[in-house]
Amino acid sequence: MSKKWKIILIVLIGLFVLIQVFPVSKPESRADNPADLIASGNVDPEIANMLKTACYDCHSFETQYPWYSHLAPVKWLVIRDINEGRKDLNFSDWMLMDPMAQLEMLDEISTEVMSGEMPMKIYPLMHPEAKLSDADRQKLSDWTEAYAETLIQ
Ligand code: HEC
Repeated sequence: MSKKWKIILIVLIGLFVLIQVFPVSKPESRADNPADLIASGNVDPEIANMLKTACYDCHSFETQYPWYSHLAPVKWLVIRDINEGRKDLNFSDWMLMDPMAQLEMLDEISTEVMSGEMPMKIYPLMHPEAKLSDADRQKLSDWTEAYAETLIQ
């Protein structure tokens, strides 16, 4: 390695170490959420499993942080996605939503899942188990419709 590259490498390592001490707090994570959608017991286990593996890290309080999410700059991106994801849709608070809001959200979920927008494209790269097949997407969409029917009655 030439001297120039050694200096560049040392500067990069120094910067990496430096950004680690930049104070940003991660959104809290907790397992016990009485108003949670799945905890309500009304969701078929297969659907519950898909929601847990493909959506819950960003759309619930049950976020599980992988080791690399503790390292800046990845940490900043993860924090942003979780904060924005929870703000739009938080399954941990689902039972506190009024039925009209639930209906609208079910429609949004179906749209996002069928269009391939959700889960965010980057997510299954790091969580292969969260990759949804076309059949999975169809099942989720069918579930939103069946659930919506129970709300309309
Ligand atoms: C890696 C984090 C992440 C994962 C995993 C994820 N989402 Fe999202 N989701 C977001 C973010 C961030 C937003 C808000 C910004 C946007 O729309 O891109 C969002 C927005 C949404 C919205 C839009 C809500 C609105 O008010 O318009 C829906 C619906 C949604 N997600 C459903 C899902 C579903 C269903 C899954 C699982 C199949 C999922 N998401 C997985 C991060 C995520």
